[in-house]
Amino acid sequence: MARRPIIAGNWKMHLSIAESLALASEVRDRCSRFRDRDVVVAPPLTSLYAVKERLADSRIQLAAQNCHWAAQGAYTGEVSPTQLKDLGCTHVIVGHSERRQYFGETDEWVSRKVRSLHDHDLVPIICIGETLEQREAGDTMSVVSTQLEAALAALSGDEARTSVVAYEPVWAIGTGRNATPAQAQEVHAAIRRLIAKRFDASVADAVRIQYGGSVKPENAAELLTQPDIDGALVGGASLKSDSFARIVSFREELA
Ligand code: 13P
Repeated sequence: MARRPIIAGNWKMHLSIAESLALASEVRDRCSRFRDRDVVVAPPLTSLYAVKERLADSRIQLAAQNCHWAAQGAYTGEVSPTQLKDLGCTHVIVGHSERRQYFGETDEWVSRKVRSLHDHDLVPIICIGETLEQREAGDTMSVVSTQLEAALAALSGDEARTSVVAYEPVWAIGTGRNATPAQAQEVHAAIRRLIAKRFDASVADAVRIQYGGSVKPENAAELLTQPDIDGALVGGASLKSDSFARIVSFREELA
């Protein structure tokens, strides 16, 4: 089954509002022509509203980088799925390794957030991935399967089907050291098998699994043409429209 590629730019804690608007305009102009793939940008919270306005009537979709699971409440400094929906977001990144590493995000929180996002008709981009230490200890699959199982624990098959999983090996993030296409494909295929076991083959077949970690124009095509890699979650290279657009156009770059 052909899955529709999904390429997302995670701008992390970068860019002013003016810089975000400039980048959003360029991404809109360079990436709107691709009708056979989804293009998503995840600006910092401070730029979300402005970027949403800038992308109005374009095919580029909007993601937040994090959320709380509650719809509202006394949670100072947090943002709810309801508020993100109101803002025009379609996707929310959850469980990014930077949140797990620096802010104590747990599997339990990820599970609640993913559940809540589906309740609010938002697509979770669920990040999972092992550290270098865990890979070297041979624990990659047990780490990834524990994280995945928790994230999907409260979902029905139909909800899992429309979720996006992002496999981001922590050692490849921001290091310039991407997983080789074979290393990434191996884990992606294993993730799909886990989803088939938890739900069924049709759900596993439908779920889109992005690769993230030092994706650049130079390595995008060979990663994104692996059978179980359905897109990319791009950090550094998404901050320049030229490199992001070249990643989005990985198929054309191959030609
Ligand atoms: P880099 O592309 O900068 O390695 O970041 C990847 C990432 O963390 C995307 O969420």
